Amino acid sequence: MTKLNEAMERSLEDRDVDALRAEFESGGRLLVIEDFLPTDLRDAALADLGRLRAQVHRNYVPRQKKGGSVSRHAIDRGGEMIGALYRCPALREFLEEVSGARLLDCPPEDPHTYALYLYTEPGDHIGWHYDTSFYRGRRFTLLLGLVENESCRFECEINRRDEARPTESRDYVMKPGTLAFFDGDGLWHRVTKMAEGDGERVVITMEFVTDNSMHPWRRLISNVKDAFAYFGVREVFGRRAGA
Ligand SMILES: [Fe+2]
Repeated sequence: MTKLNEAMERSLEDRDVDALRAEFESGGRLLVIEDFLPTDLRDAALADLGRLRAQVHRNYVPRQKKGGSVSRHAIDRGGEMIGALYRCPALREFLEEVSGARLLDCPPEDPHTYALYLYTEPGDHIGWHYDTSFYRGRRFTLLLGLVENESCRFECEINRRDEARPTESRDYVMKPGTLAFFDGDGLWHRVTKMAEGDGERVVITMEFVTDNSMHPWRRLISNVKDAFAYFGVREVFGRRAGA
């Protein structure tokens, strides 16, 4: 996938990384850039979405979330671009410069390493939460908008856990190609409910960590959460036999 890396390198050439790093820090360790993904990479990601439609797992957790997800394992089986984008050196270097952290891959068994979230039915949403790290180190989340709608807004509160700074509310519509990158333990966020009559919304989510080890007990909790709230029991626990 050298072509992907070259395309990403080219698209990042003119970005002022120092300014973006300052924006990330002053913005509560959240950075949002519209038109981040160049058109050819956006189209390649949409082609992956087309290939993965049959792999969507619908889930519903009362009062917390409702929607569809495609796990890293399903993407590895049926996708061609999203996994390569996760491992793209130019993207990783950019995110490391913005965050000031060395960012590692999640281990291959983590279904959340990269995934698709789909909001396709009225009422689909996710309630207020942090992207809490189950790993020993910190966890950063990258969201890339693929398909936009009007009613599913990405709302967040920055500095909620920072007593030295005032909490501020923000909200975004995650247009196709938009990047949102944040420190998962620091950003309180949600996606508002999809309205009746609105179209679908799709985002890619990626998880980067500073330490990819996890206590076995926390791995179990993480797997149970992923099985019931995201990808299904078979996808999370059914792969042990190499299925
Ligand atoms: Fe989240």
